[in-house]
Amino acid sequence: MPLHRCDDPQEWMQRAYAPAAVITQVDDGHPAGPGQRGRYITSSASQPNVVALMLNALDAATGMRVLEIGTATGYNAALLAHRLGSQNVTSVEIDPDLAEHARRALATTGYPVTVITADGTQGYPPHAPYDRIMSTAAVQQVPYPWVAQTHPGGKILTPWGTPYHNGALASFTVNRDGTAEGRLVGNVAFMFLRDQRIYASIDDNECDQTTARASHTNVAPYRVAGDYDAALAIGRKVPDCPVITVPDPAAELTGTLWFIDPTTDSWANLHYQPNTTTYPVHQSGPRNLWDEIETAYHWWRDAERPGPDRWQITITPKGQRVTLTDTTTPTGAAP
Ligand SMILES: C[S@@+](CC[C@H](N)C(=O)[O-])C[C@H]1O[C@@H](n2cnc3c(N)ncnc32)[C@H](O)[C@@H]1O
Repeated sequence: MPLHRCDDPQEWMQRAYAPAAVITQVDDGHPAGPGQRGRYITSSASQPNVVALMLNALDAATGMRVLEIGTATGYNAALLAHRLGSQNVTSVEIDPDLAEHARRALATTGYPVTVITADGTQGYPPHAPYDRIMSTAAVQQVPYPWVAQTHPGGKILTPWGTPYHNGALASFTVNRDGTAEGRLVGNVAFMFLRDQRIYASIDDNECDQTTARASHTNVAPYRVAGDYDAALAIGRKVPDCPVITVPDPAAELTGTLWFIDPTTDSWANLHYQPNTTTYPVHQSGPRNLWDEIETAYHWWRDAERPGPDRWQITITPKGQRVTLTDTTTPTGAAP
């Protein structure tokens, strides 16, 4: 339910500082869906404890210049400005209405940060180079302009994920040769940058099981969907594949896991229920999504179940390379 501060200041404060994100926009400001209540969350004020975790990981010091991607309410930009001075903070927001709202809110609260209405994947060259770039929207691929616009030795901090597993915070250090090396330093889930979104929904009517390819698996669903480390690895190996869990309202511990690639019109599902070791699978479309997931799961298990501290991400002008390393995240890295 929308709530304006003037209507109930106490409740408003409670919601703003509760350990939960506050939704501030759906469907890019044009709510669709039943009753126009919106289908997708497209902007929010992040969970305050996540904001604190990220600012801590950013490790920004006096005199540093920071570019924030995803201004939204302007709250994180205000905290940055409080620490570094408004003149050292630039924030980019793709949505013009949100940008204008944040610009006014920041000016009113005494933090006149420069808010640019633009696509943050391009960074903001006029104020570069930066000591820190901080994205408050998730990426699947780190845009190279962020590396090019950061001082050597500077840092880029961003939520980093896949449609299968959106839940890691990556911290990169920029090298003198124009590349950046990153490690995973936290567990956060953010909405993706606009051009890196992949949305999926299930329409039972369009998913005809009678014509789908049927098989069985003995990989328990919670192993591929409930294990953070496995899901992180599967997401790397199986691109463009959101996973949706639909519990059966009529029976406990029973339901369906759906895997969907809307771009190729492929889907797979797997029914689960208690006290069984074999699960029915259906697959449809050009991709055999379940087979891909099962193969990726077995790869991860045979590689001795690497966790987030084993993944390394390298950004070059040619793109992003993700590898497994033998070394775990060095001690002293951000939390
Ligand atoms: C989770 S919100 C950020 C929260 C914000 N930092 C705050 O303090 O309220 C993510 C924001 O990123 C914005 N966004 C998405 N794609 C973007 C892009 N390509 N460039 C800039 N902003 C983008 C969204 O419009 C949304 O407002």
